[in-house]
Amino acid sequence: MDNAQVTEVPQAASPDQTIARLQGRLFIDGEFRESLEGHTFALHNPATGEFLCDVAAADDKDVDVAVRSASLAQRSWGKVPVRERGKRLIAAAQTLATHAEEVARLIALESGKALRTECRPEATNVADVLQFFAGLASELKGDTVPLRPGLLSYTQVEPVGVVAAVLPWNVPLMLMAVKIAPALIAGNTVVVKSAEETPLAVMRAAELLSQYLPKGVLNVISGDGPVCGAALVRHPDVAKITFTGSVETGRLIYRAAADKIVPVTLELGGKSPMIVMADADLDKAVDGAVIGMRFTRQGQSCTAASRMLVHRSLHDAFVSKLKAKVDQLVIGDPLDDKTDIGAIISKPQLEKILGYIELGRADPAATAHECGQLPNDTDLRAGNFVRPVIFTGLQNRSRLAQEEIFGPVTCVMPFDTLHEAIDLANDSTFGLAASVWTRELTSGLRAVAGLEAGYIQGNQAQVAGPNISYGGFKQSGLGKELTLESMLEHFTRRKSVVINFE
Ligand code: NAI
Ligand code: MG
Repeated sequence: MDNAQVTEVPQAASPDQTIARLQGRLFIDGEFRESLEGHTFALHNPATGEFLCDVAAADDKDVDVAVRSASLAQRSWGKVPVRERGKRLIAAAQTLATHAEEVARLIALESGKALRTECRPEATNVADVLQFFAGLASELKGDTVPLRPGLLSYTQVEPVGVVAAVLPWNVPLMLMAVKIAPALIAGNTVVVKSAEETPLAVMRAAELLSQYLPKGVLNVISGDGPVCGAALVRHPDVAKITFTGSVETGRLIYRAAADKIVPVTLELGGKSPMIVMADADLDKAVDGAVIGMRFTRQGQSCTAASRMLVHRSLHDAFVSKLKAKVDQLVIGDPLDDKTDIGAIISKPQLEKILGYIELGRADPAATAHECGQLPNDTDLRAGNFVRPVIFTGLQNRSRLAQEEIFGPVTCVMPFDTLHEAIDLANDSTFGLAASVWTRELTSGLRAVAGLEAGYIQGNQAQVAGPNISYGGFKQSGLGKELTLESMLEHFTRRKSVVINFE
């Protein structure tokens, strides 16, 4: 088995140096290259509007080169002993951990997310996810089945082949890790397609990780979703697709997979309810709402607690305490350690969010509680900033309460009985996450039993992490991530063997 392919990886580079080196490049077969046609697109800093660099725009020919490289590499990578694959991933994770600050700054520059509240935790947690899956390497086991004496019947798990991982921009590095770690440990090779908005940290991470991987095992391409993303998922040699993003694109990918009959994992949108019962600890619930709504990520989270269902007796107090908390969050320069909330990823996303806020304002029954202050720094004048908004008075059937806004906009709606709260919570096309806030065991467990959501928390609303089976019901997606079972189910295929030795 040949060894590391990227021989000279610059250490502790400044973001500017890294960007200068990575710009206009794809990472294919262990090396940086331009797209075959030399096409690029411009990347801008969401907080300042400044031009960051040109990014390579792959087309179907580049996709073909990347998939062929992955396909060739898979033949030998799949035969590397599993624990050896695990050791390599652990070493890769350690290297990433030592570069966490550098990578975090790249995420902040390209995504507009605040360094202290979002990007540093993301860069650090990524190493944790890689280590978690590396430690599961020895669990790639089959079963023996006692059919009858004289028959040896067993199953063995094998890699699927080449995996296509299509990433979104909201937590680019974390979602790259969540997809590539189980895929690689299980002996597959991967072609990652980064989101248009966030190609840089993913590319730098690929460079760092590939010091420990044979060439072609991990490839990263960037480009337009409908061009290179679509070409990747329909490539005949891609044997498995894993995607996080919008429902709309998820449908297109599911159709492309159906044409080829290959498995897909889809992690799509959400409109996750948070149920606060009459006996809940109000201050804890309010703190949990700030975390659950991911205000410090500008609400750009698929699990955002964007429908807050609060018992009528607590509703008004909850709203005023929540507003007071969110008012304290500092909106500003993502690189400034004082900043809690950064910028929205792009102008189109900002416009989408502003459109929803206008829609809410136009509803005569609704009240918009705007929170915090926009930055007045002149450097940030062209940035995509928006104040968080808490809506009250909306109906659960309104568009604001039904559609994924993916911005710092939430709605608080009252309920009178647990039964009513569960009905409201389930009255959604989504079913990703939910949280229940109560000190009473029976009603808490009744809520859990009644809720249609893939990930339910009690008295907290944290992000999912390693060993928590994560994935949605209904239109929130298909399949699970972040666990041993998800690795076995989604990144291996099972071969049944029956041998007659009578
Ligand atoms: P998107 O789903 O269009 O993009 C996600 C990824 O899919 C990107 O890498 C993109 O290049 C790729 N892609 C786009 N079209 C494709 C195609 N035809 N074939 C293959 N790949 C394709 O999401 P977008 O447009 O960035 O955001 C729109 C909305 O999606 C957001 O407002 C939000 O509601 C939702 N979203 C949900 C996320 C989640 O975590 N579940 C993450 C990002 C967005
Ligand atoms: Mg899109």
